[in-house]
Amino acid sequence: MNKEISSLKKEFPALKARFGGKRLTYLDSACTVLKMRGAAEEQRRHLLELGGCGGKRSFHALASAMEENYYAARSRAASFMGAGSPEEIIFTSGVTDAVNLLANSFPFTPERNEVVLSPLEHNSVFLPFERLASAGKIKLRVAPLKDLRVDLAALAKMTGPKTALVCLTHASNIFGGREDIAYAADLAHSAGAYLFTDDAQYSPTHGGSGALYGADACAFSGHKMGAPYCTGALYVKRELLARLRPWRVGGGTVEDVSFAGGRYKVKYLGNYQGFEAGVQNYSGASALAVTLVRLEKCGFENIRAHVSGLVDGALKGLAGIRGVRVLGRREDLLEGSLISMVPEKKGFSVPDFNLFLNHQPGRFIAVRTGRHCADLACLASGLRETIRISFFAYNTPEDTSFFIEALKKYLSLLK
Ligand SMILES: Cc1ncc(COP(=O)(O)O)c(C=O)c1O
Repeated sequence: MNKEISSLKKEFPALKARFGGKRLTYLDSACTVLKMRGAAEEQRRHLLELGGCGGKRSFHALASAMEENYYAARSRAASFMGAGSPEEIIFTSGVTDAVNLLANSFPFTPERNEVVLSPLEHNSVFLPFERLASAGKIKLRVAPLKDLRVDLAALAKMTGPKTALVCLTHASNIFGGREDIAYAADLAHSAGAYLFTDDAQYSPTHGGSGALYGADACAFSGHKMGAPYCTGALYVKRELLARLRPWRVGGGTVEDVSFAGGRYKVKYLGNYQGFEAGVQNYSGASALAVTLVRLEKCGFENIRAHVSGLVDGALKGLAGIRGVRVLGRREDLLEGSLISMVPEKKGFSVPDFNLFLNHQPGRFIAVRTGRHCADLACLASGLRETIRISFFAYNTPEDTSFFIEALKKYLSLLK
């Protein structure tokens, strides 16, 4: 662990907490990252020292200070994501919120109403489009899996003159690895379509977003980076943003409301403001900005190298164990931050094993088991559930050793 990483690790007090008297070994950062002290302090400071209203509603000194702070956070998110301008950033409560916004604001036309999804999409991407498809508003096409990765050749064949949008997760939350966004952007653009990338599992350990590789829209969740819950951002390229039709409407979204000829006429703000209806999570956005600054200070090259090293070590440790099978190829997994595995020994019960991990002497080991909201991937691969260990900058090889020792112990109890 180099000095930047060990200094960052001190920012996560929950690592030292005890739960039910037991120490925590946290291998569930793909679900949510533990929260950063600096982010929590910034949220507290913002709530207690500012606490007014942003969003260009009121015009007094406190409201101006709020809006200044909010716009500074927008600029920070823009530079992190690789956006051309802060005006291309819509603050959201995370990827789920971002995709619901995008799906329901998207300018589908009768001529272009198909959405092509990769089979690795999280339910937060799949379900908003599935709803539109069920209501007969769009046609949904899901590309197949190949070796637990997206079959890009098949995705290319599905993308054509009727395709409005292609969605590709940048890094899978079930099989790990990383997808080729530059290729997908070329593919979508040459068909006259847009590309959305889900950066939920990419941004925290790589830095940046799909925007840097040509995506027209992309999103990440702050809580997966150490920022407070319900923070995140959606980037939408200026040209596409101008074509979106605000979905969730309300205060702060209108340029003008008039009444003529017995009807109301509403003109919505065409920029990001048209998509941030109502009072926003100003303190969360400020804390998110602090989180991004702190991670950038540590250096994403350091975070990536550290996490990749942890994946490598875990793969080596797991290679010697009979009774579970690691999913995916080593070279792919090294590019991600997680490993999924399935049991191969008779009598192995995933829920029992999860419970077993919770009751180690003096400590409990937090992993994630199940389908990971990746139902499309489970259906495409025939997998019912996996055991997933996932890493962030604060993990150590010792964490992996605790998991591997517990796994060996559990396997030895089976006949
Ligand atoms: C790949 C991926 N996309 C989207 C999400 C949804 O993120 P959120 O719950 O923060 O909206 C997750 C959460 O686990 C995820 O792993």
